[in-house]
Amino acid sequence: MSATIETKILPVKPESISFDTAGTTLTITDPETKQNLEYAADILRNTHHAVGFPSETVYGLGASSLSSQSVKSIYAAKNRPADNPLISHVSSIDQLKRKLMVPGQEIPEIYAPLIEKFWPGPLTILLPMPENVQDSPISQLVTSGQPTFAVRMPQNPVARALIYIADLPLAAPSANASTRPSPTTAAHVYHDLKGRIPLILDGGPSDVGLESTVVDGLCDPPMLLRPGGISLEQIKQAGGPRWQNIVVAKKTAGKLEPVRTPGMKYRHYSPTARVVLFNNCGDGKEKVKAYLEQNNLRNKKVALLKTRHFAPACDISPLISYDGTLGTSGNEIQRNLFSALRALDAEECDYILIEGVDETAEGLAIMNRLSKAASETING
Ligand code: TXA
Ligand code: MG
Repeated sequence: MSATIETKILPVKPESISFDTAGTTLTITDPETKQNLEYAADILRNTHHAVGFPSETVYGLGASSLSSQSVKSIYAAKNRPADNPLISHVSSIDQLKRKLMVPGQEIPEIYAPLIEKFWPGPLTILLPMPENVQDSPISQLVTSGQPTFAVRMPQNPVARALIYIADLPLAAPSANASTRPSPTTAAHVYHDLKGRIPLILDGGPSDVGLESTVVDGLCDPPMLLRPGGISLEQIKQAGGPRWQNIVVAKKTAGKLEPVRTPGMKYRHYSPTARVVLFNNCGDGKEKVKAYLEQNNLRNKKVALLKTRHFAPACDISPLISYDGTLGTSGNEIQRNLFSALRALDAEECDYILIEGVDETAEGLAIMNRLSKAASETING
């Protein structure tokens, strides 16, 4: 066990930060925000420690994509398997070209309409590594040996300003301990990583609530590797003809298939409680009641998380001790999902019974995360 370090949480005000359209001029009106961002940037530039920071999707754990020693500290703090590659985050297209691409390399044309529409924002694209990976400035620990690297430009002004001030592309996975639900507040990061990182910037809760969408436009047809903050429908709508036949990667790869995005094969987003997902179960009265009785949950602490159709817990069963809702709109459900799982863990619930949603629009990403969090799925 490595020695623990003191973990500071410092406040930053996203509304005091602004960029010009090109992302090359930064203005910060609040002095404390400026000072705390500069302090974080100093850690990133002058040490190999990783720093927790807010993004619009979830909180990230960032360190320089260009330094293997820095990237190692991300994997170590999270306890993350080394074959799961990381997304690099940039503050501008200019920085992407200057810091991550090799001279003469261009961003493939297929991405132009998506970048135009969704950057800065919750969309990650794959770009090719040079034939000889040694020619790339990116640490090979970021890509875990993939022939591509993943990159996105976050919308959250704190994330973007931190990357801009450090002038470093930041490799940043979600700032949770590996397998835990992703963090959407600084307190979640502190819970998982205290004593393991020196600093968390607190910029308030994440807006989107789950991770970026990852797309691969380098293959034909293009692929959706991970559903996330930008929906499949939005990609088709903004992407033009070449994105119309985008294929959704399977949630889990078969035994003989190569895994298209390494993150897919790992258990994820799991609270300590046992999560049971109910699909197409109407108002829940029949299926949830039957589940509670069959599994003899009389002496267990059981929580219900409703979305669109479930009846209140008191109309389903007296065995449910916590009645919660994730919201009804896709945006609300996304935003509340991970924080609700964490809150119920803090209440020491034994079981969390969740009402699923259909897989259109935000529903695809929501169901992707819920089915990974769940140990069991009940179909109506
Ligand atoms: O919203 C987000 O994307 C957050 C915030 C912090 O930006 N980050 C995040 O990172 O979710 P992480 O490490 O938890 O997830 C990265 C995902 C994984 O599924 C990984 O397998 C995939 O991106 N990935 C990264 N590089 C890849 C590559 N070269 N090829 C295929 N998949 C890749
Ligand atoms: Mg993650």
